[in-house]
Amino acid sequence: MKISASILATSITNLSTTLPQLKHDSIDYIHMDVMDGNFVPQISFGEAITSEVKNLTNIPLDVHLMVINPEREVPKYYKYQPEYITFHIETTFFGVRLAEDIRANGSKVGISLNPSTPISSIENLLPYIDLVLLMTVDPGFYGQSFVKSGMKKIAKTKELLKGTNILLEVDGGVGLGNIQELSSLGVDICVAGSAVFKNGDPNQNGTLLKQTSKKA
Ligand code: DX5
Ligand code: ZN
Repeated sequence: MKISASILATSITNLSTTLPQLKHDSIDYIHMDVMDGNFVPQISFGEAITSEVKNLTNIPLDVHLMVINPEREVPKYYKYQPEYITFHIETTFFGVRLAEDIRANGSKVGISLNPSTPISSIENLLPYIDLVLLMTVDPGFYGQSFVKSGMKKIAKTKELLKGTNILLEVDGGVGLGNIQELSSLGVDICVAGSAVFKNGDPNQNGTLLKQTSKKA
């Protein structure tokens, strides 16, 4: 199991001390929750903070754009060479073109779905994407509870992805209490905000999440 640490759950003003301390063997990706106050209720951060983060760590970036008009916003992130750039299926009619543009600019493509969005909505995009980011909370805030329909949707998504190289990432309400089940369902990457940053040491928390995911 890989861990993508959501810095939404840490203090932005402390990033210059927090980020250089993160170790790549505990934290696989830095998850950047970009929120525009339109698609989701809150405004978080955008390109300027992404640039700062890029300078503070060598851990690859996992950019999660919760924004309307992703065609306008996505290209702003190309210069930071994220490992993944993920946009929401609910925000665009032109997913193929946008996915092709992301790949042409050197990042892998993620597509995200809110809990109420059916997975059939991404079926036709499978040849163009590298990652499915399933939201297991309604996006907008860290620290929410994993939705009741989450595990069933994960199992269904795994079915859909069978025979492809597309990875499955889960975002929202992940912690020590459910990471083992997520791992057994075949989830490749877990986003963790509160579980990494809210109590104790982020590296130890990342390592413990990974270890717990392996327990039978
Ligand atoms: C929610 C964000 C998540 C969130 C995860 O809108 O996309 O990445 O920060 O936080 P936790 O792990 O606390 O649910
Ligand atoms: Zn996220």
